[in-house]
Amino acid sequence: MSLSVILGLMLCIEAPGSSAVTDVFVKRGEDVLLEVMDDATKKFDFFIWKFNIINVLVGYSPGRKPTVSKGYTGRVEFSVENYSVKLKYLQDDDSGVYEAQVTGDKEQTIAKYMVTVQGPVSPVDLNPDSVSNSSDSCNLTVTCSTEDSHISSTFTCDTKTCSQEGGDQSKVTNSGASLRVHLLNGTIICNHSNQVSWTQKKTQIQDFCPLHAGLSDDVSICLVKTVVFSVGLIIMVSVVISVHLMEKIRKQNKQFSSNQMNIELNLLQ
Ligand SMILES: *[C@@H]1O[C@H](CO)[C@@H](O)[C@H](O)[C@H]1NC(C)=O
Ligand SMILES: *[C@@H]1O[C@H](CO)[C@@H](O)[C@H](O)[C@H]1NC(C)=O
Ligand SMILES: *[C@@H]1O[C@H](CO)[C@@H](O)[C@H](O)[C@H]1NC(C)=O
Ligand SMILES: *[C@@H]1O[C@H](CO)[C@@H](O)[C@H](O)[C@H]1NC(C)=O
Repeated sequence: MSLSVILGLMLCIEAPGSSAVTDVFVKRGEDVLLEVMDDATKKFDFFIWKFNIINVLVGYSPGRKPTVSKGYTGRVEFSVENYSVKLKYLQDDDSGVYEAQVTGDKEQTIAKYMVTVQGPVSPVDLNPDSVSNSSDSCNLTVTCSTEDSHISSTFTCDTKTCSQEGGDQSKVTNSGASLRVHLLNGTIICNHSNQVSWTQKKTQIQDFCPLHAGLSDDVSICLVKTVVFSVGLIIMVSVVISVHLMEKIRKQNKQFSSNQMNIELNLLQ
């Protein structure tokens, strides 16, 4: 019993000189290179890469060939130059703690990585739930959803700008990814992401809240004014021209009749 306690304690106690844990995220099916950045590798009798404390990936003694454990044949590449290890075609089961240890005068952990294998995130949907529109404001509520999570968010527009109620909305999904809804430049973006991938859907807020309805009203008023002004101008010009013409015709008629009178007078004389 006391032996198992001692063993348990030994497992808990970190080897002296152990380095900080580096987080690494790897996309499922891809490779990762774990490197050793420590001078401690200058002199040692034995070197091992371990997985989750008890599984040995590869062992190496200077002057000998490295030995890769059975379970890792073909899945790891060890460099005898710099002691890095390349893990290939990572699957979810490969998530865990990888450590490089040397033994010589003492045992030392010289590199430690927390590797997390992640699949690509699932697609998202972005759908409007409700729109209420008046002449001076518009409220739009949308839902951004994935297979296991969703966020609803409301956007409010006045005649000039739109804003998101409560600002950016985000949450961690049941599968540990992140789901976020935010407004950028009049575009609503729904982004589903983890450390290795993301998917998104977008929608233009203007498609639901015609924000520039005010502007287009101004434009049409301006158009009407222009038309009224032009028509008025044309009528005025026409009136002036016709008055002028009528005057001219009347003058000509007068002249004509006075000419005729002169001819008649001449005849009488
Ligand atoms: C260690 O060796 C591997 C395989 O040859 C190489 O890809 C990697 O860049 C090397 N790392 C350093 C720090 O030299
Ligand atoms: C939108 O919401 C705001 C605040 O909740 C409210 O004052 C406004 O009347 C709403 N507008 C419409 C068109 O429903
Ligand atoms: C917003 O849109 C304008 C014009 O389309 C562009 O110039 C600007 O870079 C955009 N801003 C952002 C933050 O995307
Ligand atoms: C989605 O979110 C991820 C993580 O925050 C980020 O790297 C990516 O650029 C985002 N995509 C867009 C289009 O904003």
